[in-house]
Amino acid sequence: MCGIVGYTGKNKCEDILINSLRKLEYRGYDSAGIAVIENGKIKTVKSKGKINDGLVKKLEDAGTLNAVTGIGHTRWATHGEPSDINSHPIGNSRVTIVHNGIIENYRKLKTFLIEKGYEFESETDTETVAKLLDYYYTGNPVEAISKAVTDIEGAYALGIIFRDYPDMIYAVRKDSPLIVGIGDGEMYIASDMTALLEYTKKYYLLETGEIAAISQNGASFCDLHGNKIKKEEQIATWDVSEAEKGGFEHFMLKEIHEQPNAVTKTISPRIKDGLPCFEECGLTDEMLRNYHHIFIVACGSAMHAGMVGKYIIESMSRTPVIVDIASEFRYRNPLLSADDLVVIISQSGETADTKAALELANEVGADTLAFVNVVGSSIAREAKMVMFTYAGPEISVASTKAYMVQVALMYLLSFRVALARHAITEEQCRDYITELEKIPDKISECLKDLDPYRKAASRLVGADSLLYIGRGLDYALSMEGSLKLKEISYIHSESYAAGELKHGTISLICDGMPVIAVATQRELLAKTISNMREVKTRGAYVIAICPKGISVDAESADQIIEIPDAGDMLMPLVAVVPLQLIAYYASVLRGNDVDKPRNLAKSVTVE
Ligand code: AGP
Ligand code: GLU
Repeated sequence: MCGIVGYTGKNKCEDILINSLRKLEYRGYDSAGIAVIENGKIKTVKSKGKINDGLVKKLEDAGTLNAVTGIGHTRWATHGEPSDINSHPIGNSRVTIVHNGIIENYRKLKTFLIEKGYEFESETDTETVAKLLDYYYTGNPVEAISKAVTDIEGAYALGIIFRDYPDMIYAVRKDSPLIVGIGDGEMYIASDMTALLEYTKKYYLLETGEIAAISQNGASFCDLHGNKIKKEEQIATWDVSEAEKGGFEHFMLKEIHEQPNAVTKTISPRIKDGLPCFEECGLTDEMLRNYHHIFIVACGSAMHAGMVGKYIIESMSRTPVIVDIASEFRYRNPLLSADDLVVIISQSGETADTKAALELANEVGADTLAFVNVVGSSIAREAKMVMFTYAGPEISVASTKAYMVQVALMYLLSFRVALARHAITEEQCRDYITELEKIPDKISECLKDLDPYRKAASRLVGADSLLYIGRGLDYALSMEGSLKLKEISYIHSESYAAGELKHGTISLICDGMPVIAVATQRELLAKTISNMREVKTRGAYVIAICPKGISVDAESADQIIEIPDAGDMLMPLVAVVPLQLIAYYASVLRGNDVDKPRNLAKSVTVE
């Protein structure tokens, strides 16, 4: 993963680089570092740990850096443990780089470079690129970059500085993202726009196989053969305040509170005359009628959003939907054909496994429709059709508002499929839409009193393990609840189809073990309640999440969290809120770094 930044301009670059890096820390936080050109020399300061834990101290010790050109990096280690020596920037006195991605043939390159007399310090794949650039460099940076990247296999976004060109930054990329920010007499590079919103909204998108040569007055672009490329300026639509905490203790809490607005922003423009409309991406009713299968492919929370979609589409339209984990889909030779629709879901639009699944579907000739949050991301550009979710920047590693709007868009798609396939009438569809439009208020209602979630969380923090149970849509939702809890509280949990417990897992239940039961589906309620009783009788502490009006008695649950009723079908959009907040408070109570859980990163751009 990693975040990379760069600045060249008229101002001292140190603070700008650190400030931009902080915005990208969600992408990785194993180490951080910057390299600047000061008095004609490359100076690198880097340290293991988060920016505040290591780098800031080292920079204080180093004294003020008198430089106007530099690059920076925040790392999610893939090759070589998190350590000072494996931190980026990496290079020597002539050329130094920051890298996001993986160099797959680094062993071969390393052997070659050792034969040429180079010595290696780190265990990273990145160091081979730094040395290769040095090897090819004879005074012309673009030529050296072209030659070096021709030898490299894998994924990379590289920010490069050469001692001989103290006012320039160079960049090149393949698969990993990179943008070039445009200021007034100053220019930037960054892995994504959140790093730069404070400085500029104008940027160029660097494409695979393109090299950028950046000075304070602008950027020129060429391909690997040196042919000039002209680029269009892009304007970011996100606002700087969206990437700030805005008074909340954590981004996660802020993002949970942004959900009502995010849902409205995402669904309103797609409702025309009271009906869901997919014209903007070119998806017609005729196409929806003709698809043989619908695949939904994604990772993590995005995949869980797909699970909700499966239940809804299948029950409304009797159309088969296959939900796949992207990393499985791509290697299992799926039974996919040109008559199928593949819906790809991704917040970042950069998840390597999801992107590979999209490429596979494109190759087979299937129609691909991506639900993506980040405009200009790889998945948004490579899918045949794209619908953006308008969640705004999601900084917390744990996805909340992005999941929410993915599910909201999934409902619109489900309604459109049902309409196109004549499974519902326009009138019925309008009624569903009216109910969907009420969801933001219901989410807001869940946010009025946070005490019940805190109370539930306090029951979990001492547990070694717990279960989430539910049936039907509640089961789909419990997967998301369980992932959220594991991810940020580090408490082990599993989500289980409530009816499946008795086939083995119930033997885990012991005295005081928490079980979170999602019980929102009226049709299945009696059965879910029986399952709750089964575990409660065996000593479990049952926390039930159910809509107002559904009666769960004290014999079935120890704590009942009541939420607004949205009707069975739409309940996941409301019931996910308590699940998010229980996970949030469990993490807070355990003293964890909520927004930056250990071992993780926001966008997983490696396999
Ligand atoms: C969610 O809380 C996780 N951080 C993770 O599962 C995430 O949803 C997954 O990595 C997919 O990311 P994407 O939506 O950016 O593709
Ligand atoms: N492979 C490089 C490293 O381990 C970059 C990591 C990344 O982009 O995730 O340092």
